[in-house]
Amino acid sequence: IYVESEASVMMGIDESYTLTVTATGIEIHAATDVGAMHGLSTLLQLIKVDNEGYSFTGVEIKDEPRFVWRGLMMDVARHFLPVEVVKRNIDAMALVKLNVFHWHLSDDQGFRVETKTLPELYEKASDGLYYTQAEIKDIVKYADDRGIRVVPEFDVPGHGTSFLTAFPELGSKKDMEYSIERYAGIFDPTLDPTNEKTYEFLDTLFKEVAPLFTDVYFHIGGDENEGKHWDENPEIQQFMKEHELKDNHELQTYFNIRLEKILAKYGKSLMGWEEIMTPNMPKSALIHSWRGVNEGMEPGESLIKAVKNGYQTILSNGYYIDLLLSAEDHYLVDPMPEVDLTDEEAKRILGGEATMWAELVTPLTV
Ligand code: ACM
Repeated sequence: IYVESEASVMMGIDESYTLTVTATGIEIHAATDVGAMHGLSTLLQLIKVDNEGYSFTGVEIKDEPRFVWRGLMMDVARHFLPVEVVKRNIDAMALVKLNVFHWHLSDDQGFRVETKTLPELYEKASDGLYYTQAEIKDIVKYADDRGIRVVPEFDVPGHGTSFLTAFPELGSKKDMEYSIERYAGIFDPTLDPTNEKTYEFLDTLFKEVAPLFTDVYFHIGGDENEGKHWDENPEIQQFMKEHELKDNHELQTYFNIRLEKILAKYGKSLMGWEEIMTPNMPKSALIHSWRGVNEGMEPGESLIKAVKNGYQTILSNGYYIDLLLSAEDHYLVDPMPEVDLTDEEAKRILGGEATMWAELVTPLTV
């Protein structure tokens, strides 16, 4: 193995390698150790076992990724996945050269991170199933050692029941008894974007958790907020009038822009599910395209819209592996759509992510 340098794992590093297997030896050449590991993964795929023993097929392979973002999202909120299960899946990611582990850490059904500044979150909203900060650092290092970036997601302002179970005063519906959800669905509890205390709370949380993750990207969710509790709250309606926010999308954008500024203080770039893409959203946000025919959209519609509007983007529609479609079905989806794009637009498509939503998934079946 010939490696020129050790890479700091981040988006866009050189992951290329060449692998040569001849009768006299095996050589891997790579600019970085991450590229060399990909060469080793390929070599493992080439092992042949027969009555004669083990052998490798003679090959000359020159390989580099088409996309810089090749992700797997794991939802540990709906069903908690213990550390060893996360690591098992990170090992599998490395074998198939996936390089982003997107960790969906909060949802209506649970908040899964130990926080020292806001302990109510995991004490009241996790059933005792959460990662300690030491475990998170250990997993981030484990992934980093395998060339895999870790992007955390804290889903706000919707999918927020776990937050509000711990801090009901931050909810958009006052005097409601919030408790974590036990079933699947889209629920109404939503953080109150008109309450300054919501931003103080998120600032405190992000300040504490941001340093646990070495990657620059930080996912704020942003999906499936139907705004029912916003519509029903006269004070929120009054706030929208005063701030000339004409609908719930504009109110959510107001919220997202506040979050982007908080994250920037902690060195993080905001990404979110495609609903965050509204006219005033800064172009620095990364748009995560997910909706398709089940949501009344064309597959990849938001991906194309994102690049045409100047955003970087990744695709998950077509990679919902929790839907139990065939492997063939997923493999035939290409993040690069068959539409005319300029080179600049095409470059903004960074790649894709498979989504392992866990409503029906347990540590055994993941
Ligand atoms: C999503 O599937 N709600 C992003």
